Amino acid sequence: VICDSRATQARLAADAVERLVRGRAAQDRGVVLGLATGSSPLAVYDELARRHGEEGLSLSHARAFLLDEYVGLPADHPERYRAVIDRELVRRTDLDPAAVHGPDGAAEDLPAACARFEAAITTAGGVDLQLLGVGTDGHVAFNEPGSSLGSRTRLKTLTAQTRQDNARFFGGRPDAVPQHVLTQGLGTILEARHLVLLAQGAAKGEAVRQLVEGAVSARWPATVLQHHPHLTVLLDADAAGRL
Ligand code: GLP
Repeated sequence: VICDSRATQARLAADAVERLVRGRAAQDRGVVLGLATGSSPLAVYDELARRHGEEGLSLSHARAFLLDEYVGLPADHPERYRAVIDRELVRRTDLDPAAVHGPDGAAEDLPAACARFEAAITTAGGVDLQLLGVGTDGHVAFNEPGSSLGSRTRLKTLTAQTRQDNARFFGGRPDAVPQHVLTQGLGTILEARHLVLLAQGAAKGEAVRQLVEGAVSARWPATVLQHHPHLTVLLDADAAGRL
């Protein structure tokens, strides 16, 4: 979907969340949301917070799983993805903080933390709707180029490009961006029942072109999403500029 504005893009993504939440509430069932960080979904969180405040949209029966987390940031660091989600969504809605789970980047045993996280998603019944962004190099969550297309939650090393892209969150210093992360694998992400990916700006143009029109390859991890039976790609005109 090529959207006429970023507001439209955020509205369409929020509509998908709202339809799911209200539909399940009518059946007295909760939902499992997959939340992304980065700048791409921020306007969606603004819109969900607005609908909560003004239109009574409730996330009180939702559970949520984060896509990824930095390794080694101090507990009180504002750029920990768990802190970002608390700030951008949890505190602005009635989403229960105890119902939000991310991979534990501070765990002593990181592989065990990844296994626990995968098990928690399974126990919750899987993710109903997963919000996604895409990196300029085609990464999804933190699955950098070369990632196995069937991968599960695991420890990864960030590329220089991604640390450069994320430096704006760390005082403009790429070397302040952690080198290591825990991330859901591409195989994990593909199991969510509906994927809603957002991209904005010309810098995402090539990644979007590969995602929509390219051959499926670990060189551009986002291309694996072509295998998903229910993927919605919401673009602004700039991100769609190379299609
Ligand atoms: C980040 C995140 C991803 C995000 C992507 C794009 O590093 N780990 O989840 O989708 O890269 O980021 P942005 O939305 O800020 O452009």
